Amino acid sequence: MQEKYIDETKQGEAFAILEKPENGKKLFLESYGCQMNFSDSEIVASILNEQGYNTTLNVEEADLILLNTCSIREKAEQTVRMRLAQFKNLKKERPNMTVGVLGCMAERLKTKFLEEEQLVDLVVGPDAYRDLPNLLKETEDGRDAINVILSKEETYADINPVRLGGNGVTAFVTITRGCDNMCTFCVVPFTRGRERSRDPHSIIEECQSLWDNGYKEITLLGQNVDSYLWYGGGPKKDFAKASEMQKLTATNFAQLLDMVAVAVPKMRIRFSTSNPHEMTEEVFRMIAKHDNICNYVHLPVQSGSDRILQLMNRQHTRQEYLDLIKKGKEIVPDISFSQDMIIGFCTETEEDHQMTMSLMREVEYDYGYMFSYSTRPGTPAHKKMEDDIPADVKQRRLAEVIALQGELSRKRMQGYVGRVHEILIEGISKKNKNQWKGRNSQNAVCVFDMKEDQKLGDIVSVFVHGNTQGTLLGETVESN
Ligand code: SAH
Ligand code: F3S
Repeated sequence: MQEKYIDETKQGEAFAILEKPENGKKLFLESYGCQMNFSDSEIVASILNEQGYNTTLNVEEADLILLNTCSIREKAEQTVRMRLAQFKNLKKERPNMTVGVLGCMAERLKTKFLEEEQLVDLVVGPDAYRDLPNLLKETEDGRDAINVILSKEETYADINPVRLGGNGVTAFVTITRGCDNMCTFCVVPFTRGRERSRDPHSIIEECQSLWDNGYKEITLLGQNVDSYLWYGGGPKKDFAKASEMQKLTATNFAQLLDMVAVAVPKMRIRFSTSNPHEMTEEVFRMIAKHDNICNYVHLPVQSGSDRILQLMNRQHTRQEYLDLIKKGKEIVPDISFSQDMIIGFCTETEEDHQMTMSLMREVEYDYGYMFSYSTRPGTPAHKKMEDDIPADVKQRRLAEVIALQGELSRKRMQGYVGRVHEILIEGISKKNKNQWKGRNSQNAVCVFDMKEDQKLGDIVSVFVHGNTQGTLLGETVESN
């Protein structure tokens, strides 16, 4: 299944690609967490490429080890800690090696990494990657180095990301950074700072350059793409202070979609993540208007209970969410939706849980990403509410929700059977090397036998004759 979150098998994957002049040093860069982190690693690689670093997939020969980390749940942090412990042993053998932590854990734990735990030499938050060359000079001189300053402006707009370990067909393009929403369970506003939007011209340039380099699909990325707003930069709150002219010429997310769809008319366009509180009907209209914008929206809801939604500060009700879904289905009849759900949030009752299940049945999501609630230090929920749902209850409810999503996914996949779908060839099937894998507009993965005239990046017409819970099985009827 193509994931909003990077595939489990890719978590912790290291990439090698750099081609620039070498400084004789080798970088081992590993990424954890969400798409945004993987996209940020491409910015980091670009910055270090300029410094002459070459990459390696072999940690044993690395001079610099960087881990781009995730704080979203405790488990994500534990994974990184285990990895750091391994590097600590390696460092005993190779004391000149530098180990650095980037991303959300760096931001959350700051100097703690350097002082208490002595696991690393370098700590760099998500808005400080431009400072990496300076920080590395400090570590070369034998000092620990840290920059975790968050920025209200940084969007790395001018940095051309080095595309890491991808398939050369699909790429991420960051459009906003940070989040101003303050959902009570979420650490992101603390680790990634204030929301800011990137200049639309630099977004379009990046999309055009990707097209020129053979890419066929882009995903516009942000913690909350719907609140994209460009009127010359700065946090959105300052919009009130913007001049009348700036307000008149501002670009919102639907307008940005329109601009991108026109600028790269054959590029497939996806976006993630949408937020029910801020998503507008206009976005659905843009999907309907442009053939190259995919008929798929990832629309996290977290819970089907109004009481829980309120405790989470999601700023919408169950009914408002269902109305938005209904609008989407009316405007884009062949649309598909996926969800994020948090199970066992503070005070969640059996009745709340049933509300979540009934909402899922009502929406009929294609996919879902479901998590047990994990309390995060510093968040409003951690400060003011008790994480009071016992682990076994969370586990049981989570299993029920996952089983239900399985049923719904299978049903949705069945609905795609018996039709021809346009599939973008993204790679070779893991299970059968004589088969391609790709996705339809609705983001459903499809596998089918290869034909001689087909290649990676082609969009082909595939007749779907069967399905499993998460995959469509088909055969090509004609190639474009
Ligand atoms: N807007 C973001 C959301 C980031 S967090 C985006 O771009 O996806 C991704 C998902 O992790 C959330 O939608 C939520 O379902 C889950 N999550 C966040 N905080 C969590 C927590 N404390 N415990 C469990 N799951 C959490
Ligand atoms: Fe987190 Fe809510 Fe923003 S889930 S990333 S605070 S929209």
